[in-house]
This record gives sequence, structure tokens and C-alpha cells, in this order.
Amino acid sequence: MANILYIDDEISALKAISAILRKEGYTVFTSTTAEEGMEVLKTTTIECILLDYRLPGMDGIDLLRWLKHCEMSIPTVMLTAYGTIEKAVEAMKLGAYHYLIKPVDTELLLNVIKEAIEKSKGIQKLEKIETPFPEIIGKSKTIQEIFYIMQMVAESNANVLITGESGTGKELVARAIHKNSLRKSKPFIIVDCTTIPENLLESELFGHEKGAFTGATERKTGLIELANEGTVFLDEIGELPMLLQKKLLRFLQEKEIQRIGSTQRIKVDVRVISATNKDLEKAIKEGSFREDLYWRLNVVRINLPPLRERKEDIPLLVNHFLNKFSKENNKPIPQLEPEVMNALINYYWPGNIRELANVIERAVVLSPSGLISIKHLPRRIQENTGWTIIKENTFNLLEVEKALILKALNSTGWNQTKAAEILGISRKQLRTKMKHHGFLTQSEEE
Ligand SMILES: Nc1ncnc2c1ncn2[C@@H]1O[C@H](COP(=O)(O)OP(=O)(O)OP(=O)(O)O)[C@@H](O)[C@H]1O
Ligand SMILES: [Mg+2]
Repeated sequence: MANILYIDDEISALKAISAILRKEGYTVFTSTTAEEGMEVLKTTTIECILLDYRLPGMDGIDLLRWLKHCEMSIPTVMLTAYGTIEKAVEAMKLGAYHYLIKPVDTELLLNVIKEAIEKSKGIQKLEKIETPFPEIIGKSKTIQEIFYIMQMVAESNANVLITGESGTGKELVARAIHKNSLRKSKPFIIVDCTTIPENLLESELFGHEKGAFTGATERKTGLIELANEGTVFLDEIGELPMLLQKKLLRFLQEKEIQRIGSTQRIKVDVRVISATNKDLEKAIKEGSFREDLYWRLNVVRINLPPLRERKEDIPLLVNHFLNKFSKENNKPIPQLEPEVMNALINYYWPGNIRELANVIERAVVLSPSGLISIKHLPRRIQENTGWTIIKENTFNLLEVEKALILKALNSTGWNQTKAAEILGISRKQLRTKMKHHGFLTQSEEE
């Protein structure tokens, strides 16, 4: 069971609460001053601190400061007889886990302590996990699950289909799988199915013999053949024209290619990782994507969630990009004003991690003093704080409407039905207004 340190100058409370905690099986260390408590903390492993606010000498807030200064992340529950909001806010800002008013409800206290200890253990455990993918930032449960699948699949030769919105990290994940596979010392070749013109794609993929068609003045080795023993990354596979879908399928079945203009069949051993932000299942139904090819590509599926569905990773990513871009620009790592992180967490991030990286790079460049404030963020993110516009400078009805719609959307995780309910309009009316204010992307407008 866990060690708890309880600091309180009120002896009767000290005795009563300690007895309750000991009965629950905790080992309780007590002290009547913050200074004494500090001595205990220096010599003993403590899992949770119960801390009275008003103490002789150093008070509870001073001790919280000291803990922060020493980087001791021990969950601390504050107790006080004088409940004021300001004090509670100050304590929470300094990292206190919870704030309870005396006399405390025993059951509540026990629950809070149990939760605090469990949570801090969880955090430590997560931090200890060694990721084989250090370039991919994220601690959210979804990302941890993806790491697990990536590890399993890296060791195999299975084809992988990576799906996810634009900017969610599909290419990053594909590279990481290759780098952690047995093929890592062999080529990783990217074929972007959207940038190569359709009439050239076949020869790009499979190669051609000299004179195979007008303009084929030299013999050319195709990308698949070049990737032999390595990995081919077929980006935007949803855009692959039908004729090539058929040829690719044939290659996947037979593991042989035929250059254009040649009758020779060449054995090629590659692993195929493909990516798309299209709904392939829908494309199959509509007849624009072959189902048999789909099943060949989709042996293992990795679906990267949009950033807005794993907001807990935003602070980590922000720090990562602050480090990265300040180094690149030869600047000291800037600090963020508190409302900046809030605005970043609350934003919808249609461009996902790529968009976040751009926003942070811009802010690093724009902030001269090493402090990033809300005005260094693009307007679309500043406006996302909703109420500020109304308060500060706007008497324009449309602007207010826009701010309110954003506020409603953000508070419902962009669930249009729920947001419409909050606003007291129909979903259809909401969509019309969203379109008017430019909140719908082209594909969402239909
Ligand atoms: N988890 C992550 N940690 C750190 N950087 C990331 C992460 N995910 C993505 N990035 C970075 O974000 C940018 C976009 O990632 P990437 O190009 O892999 O996305 P994508 O899904 O292929 O996008 P698109 O569909 O637009 O091609 C890259 O610079 C990448 O390094
Ligand atoms: Mg990409």
C-alpha cells in the first residue's frame, strides 16, 4: 500500500484523518510544519501528499512551489478551512491535484487520494514505455495502440494499408514501419499516385524496354523493381486508375513484374504499404476501386485518428515543434502564455499535425521576445476562443453569430446535431450557416 505524507498544524485533524487513512491500509507520515514535511520528502518515497493550506512558517502554497522547483511530481491534495476560489486556483496552477474544504467528507477524501495515486502511477508507467518510434510523438491511448500494431507488423512481411485524414502522419508511420523491419537496409520507395500523370504511371511502376512506345528512348527500371527486397509506399492509392489497379493486383498475386514492351517476367520481392485519405470501402461500392485489390493491400490496417480526437497529445506535439523550430531558427525555446495552449487544444485542426507544425513554426518566427501570445497565432485559431471577439470589439451580428457557432461546435467536439441543439436551430440551418462562415471543407459541402 502507498505512503502518504500528511502535513497539518491542527493536531486534532492530524490524528483523526491519519487514523482513517491507516485503517484503509496506507502508511501515513505526519508533520505539523512544511519544513518538517520537506525533510520527510527528502528521505522517503511518498506517493501522495495531503497538505493543509495555512501553516506556521512556510505555508502550503510555498511547499507546492518548492515541490515544483524540485520537479517532484507527487500528487498533492490541498486542505483548508478557508475556502476561497483564488487560493484554490493558485494551488491548482502550482500543480495541486485537488482542493478540499475542511471539515472534509471522509469518503470523498479517500476517493480523491486513491484516484491521485492511481493516476500518478499511470503517468509514470506511460513515461517508462520505451517507444521504438521516437520520431512519432504521442502518448494517447490510440497512439499507444498504433505503436503496438506497428511493432507487430514491422517484423512481418504483411502489406499494410494506412488510412487517415490529410496530415495525420501516414507517411511518417510508413517510414517508421520500414525502418523497424528486416528490410531497413534496403530501399524505401515512394510512389505518389496523384503526382505522376496517368499515362506515365505504368512505366514508372513497372518500367519499360527501349522502344516500347514513342519516347521510350532508353530502357527504364520501374519503381517496384528498384524497391526489390525493400518497401514500396503507394501514397494516395485511392487515386490509382482502374487499368493500373488491375496490373498492381496481378503483381501482388504473382510477385512478378513485366516491363512494358518485354515478355520477360522478373521476380520482385517487396512489401507494399499503401495510404489514402479516401474512403476505399465507399469507392468499392461506387465501382471506382477493385475489391480484390483492396483485400490484398489491406492485410493489416492502421487508421490514424484526426488530431481533434486525441487532444491529449497536443501539448506534447506543441513542445516537440517548439523545440524543433527554435533550433532550426537559432532561437531560444519560447514560453507560451497560458491561453495559447488552450486555444491550440480547442481548435478543430482540419489539417491535423501538419497544420499544427506550421502554426508553431510561424509563432516561433513571429514572437520576438521568446514569449508566444495569442496574437502570434493565425486568426482562425484566435477566433476559436469564441467569446473574446464578442467582448472586445465586435458589434457585428454576423461576427457574433460566427463566434457562437464556433463555441457551440467546439463544446460538442464538432458534433453538428448537438451543436444545433445548443443553438436552438435545426441541423440543416446550422449547416447553411457553417457553409456561409466557411467552416465546411469542400468535400463536406457535398
Ligand atoms: N505523431 C507525430 N509526431 C511528430 N510529427 C508528426 C506526427 N504525425 C505527423 N507528423 C508530422 O506532420 C507532417 C505531416 O505528416 P505526414 O506527411 O506523414 O502526413 P500524411 O498523413 O501523409 O498527410 P497527407 O495525407 O496530406 O499526405 C510531417 O511533417 C510529419 O513529420
Ligand atoms: Mg502523405
